[in-house]
Amino acid sequence: MREGNFMGKEQDILRMRELERVLEHHSYKYYIENNPEISDKEFDELLAELQRLEAAYPEEADRNSPTKRVGSDLTSEFESVEHRYAMMSLSNTYSAEELGEWIDRIVREIGQVEFVAELKFDGTAISLTYENGALLRAVTRGDGKRGDDVTNNVRTICSVPLKLRGEGYPSLFEIRGEIIMPYASFDRLNSEREAAGEPLLANPRNAAAGTLKQQSSQVVARRGLDCTLYQLAGDNLPFTTHAESLEKAKEWGFSISDHRAICRTREEIETFINYWDTERKSLPYATDGIVIKVNGYAEQRSLGATAKSPRWAVAYKFQAERAVTKLLSVDFQVGRTGAVTPVANLEPVLLAGTVVRRASIHNADQIALHDIRIGDMVYVEKGGEIIPKITGVEFSERSAESQPFEYITHCPECGSELVRVEGEAKHFCPNSRGCKPQIIGRIEHFVKRKAMDIEGLGSETIELLWQNDMLHNIADIYGLDSGQIAALPRLGEKSAANIQQGVERSKEVPFERVLFALGIRFVGETTAKYIASHFRTLDAIMAASRDELAEAEEVGAKIADSIVDYFADEDNRAIIELLRQAGLQFEVREKRKDSNALSGKSIVISGKFAGRSRDDMKAIVEAHGGRNIAAVSANVDFIVAGDNMGPAKRQKAEKLGITILSETEFFAMIEGAEGAENNAESVEVIEADVAMETQTMAKTEASSEASSEASVAAEAEQVVQGTLF
Ligand code: IVH
Repeated sequence: MREGNFMGKEQDILRMRELERVLEHHSYKYYIENNPEISDKEFDELLAELQRLEAAYPEEADRNSPTKRVGSDLTSEFESVEHRYAMMSLSNTYSAEELGEWIDRIVREIGQVEFVAELKFDGTAISLTYENGALLRAVTRGDGKRGDDVTNNVRTICSVPLKLRGEGYPSLFEIRGEIIMPYASFDRLNSEREAAGEPLLANPRNAAAGTLKQQSSQVVARRGLDCTLYQLAGDNLPFTTHAESLEKAKEWGFSISDHRAICRTREEIETFINYWDTERKSLPYATDGIVIKVNGYAEQRSLGATAKSPRWAVAYKFQAERAVTKLLSVDFQVGRTGAVTPVANLEPVLLAGTVVRRASIHNADQIALHDIRIGDMVYVEKGGEIIPKITGVEFSERSAESQPFEYITHCPECGSELVRVEGEAKHFCPNSRGCKPQIIGRIEHFVKRKAMDIEGLGSETIELLWQNDMLHNIADIYGLDSGQIAALPRLGEKSAANIQQGVERSKEVPFERVLFALGIRFVGETTAKYIASHFRTLDAIMAASRDELAEAEEVGAKIADSIVDYFADEDNRAIIELLRQAGLQFEVREKRKDSNALSGKSIVISGKFAGRSRDDMKAIVEAHGGRNIAAVSANVDFIVAGDNMGPAKRQKAEKLGITILSETEFFAMIEGAEGAENNAESVEVIEADVAMETQTMAKTEASSEASSEASVAAEAEQVVQGTLF
């Protein structure tokens, strides 16, 4: 059903306002209350309806429309904005004694008071400004006085209300909290990075801070961030206590943690701390302490603040979980990309409920920095990190005979001399064709479920085939002989048939997964999808220059370089040819046609579009029988121009007299032609698909968290070079 055809503009606009309200309500039910009233499908249908209306009336789209949750691929420079109220930090304490002294000081100064104890969320701080109940701005802490405007990115976080519920909120106020990445999102992100051969992110705090500073809000939308709020700021806030402000904020639709308590004595505060020191381990997000705040606003005012932090609040930090144990030896693991990772073997020690035998020591620089030596008693920490790591040495216990650690110079697997690439902390083994773990690793990657999904080829079988000289590279998989496989020890007719069947089936695996399976460095599952949908064929990717590659969504210079290097390698090209002969999918299979509205038309899609990516637009062209053309020439029928269409392109089009359509005109054209064709469904099918995908990607379990912010620079994604333990 196409509203625009049946109702007037006025009704459409009313419907847009209604859809905004309804969608915001259901987002709240889903993300904040965890109690959805409608199915995901129904939600997606409503969202798709709103997206259609916004495409028809872009000028009527609300800046806080629920469609903004999906993000856009517009890159943004973050504008630096001054905080209306400085974002202070908290003074920290690590011991019950210090905390006791803080409490005593307050009681001495202003008498008995109530405290609120709450969780200290380990993420990155954010300040949200609401004006007349609508999100106006989201700003990072920055240096406390000025921060970066990250509003577009924050809008994609589904637990941040774009419009407030209920009533009684001040017409202008700020609410502060923490952007956090729940463990589930963090783990998912790291497994994607691992599969792409990218360095892992050290902890959810860095991952949240790095994500928030992503240039593309689409990327942010997919990463599953969450936001929990804990402090209001404004002139004449209508409350007398902090606890009351949080209760009200919750009614207005904010995600406010219930894990807090009003405490009147030191003992009550300690009970809360002790309880959460253990219980926090079962929370779905990271916390690193407890924040204790004086409850009354009047008391807060009379206590005031130092230059850096308020006197009415303090953070009690949990001890990072740490143990001391002996470093027995260091192994060097060689990954499929040739990267060498040192892994410490430890005398088993109990840490945070698990026995730790291995820990990460990152790379040669870290070993040198901490002067870590074999035989040392070392500190092992689990902090917010998932991988235990060595954080230092207990020098007082160092034996007099200990020798400085000498990092290896040659590959422990194949003996090749290791190389160091500029800008990378790791050593690499350059012998990619002859080094066993690299060969086996590439084949393991190729056959795994998310890649070619070849059943029967487990790690042991791959190794066995390699040992028997039957498998040296991924192309050999397609020349395997069932008889020979069956004759191998531990394998038999049945395994051989199973492998053969898996190999045959893999020839139907869609192109994007084939591209991922090749194991090009930095080309993970998602990136492969974007590249495949942008270039459509492997030949086009192989022919593309670095700059052309970087034009595809999600592809930056680093990925583009890696792709160029991969295809420049002769061995790789030979393997590609063998895979082509084997019959693998080297092209995107064309989608079912939804109409012939654009049949015979050659179309250039250019610029950035409001609700969709360029590749989505191209898919729409194809689904309606049109042909996508990259360059403007006399053969082009028309150009669909979004924002920022290149001036050169525009000039050329004007010179050739080619029609330039806006996004809205383009859809109107499809609709018009379709109307004539009497072909009702169509754009909707695709649009709903897109909407559904983004909606699903954006949804993760509703939860909350927060952090301390060392420096804005540290908000860049810090990585840990390590393997998962
Ligand atoms: S209150 C003026 N409450 O920890 C104090 N902060 O350095 C306003 N944090 O900057 C902050 N959980 O980023 C407060 N429940 C909580 C918190 C919290 C985490 C962060 C916040 C703050 C840092 C302390």
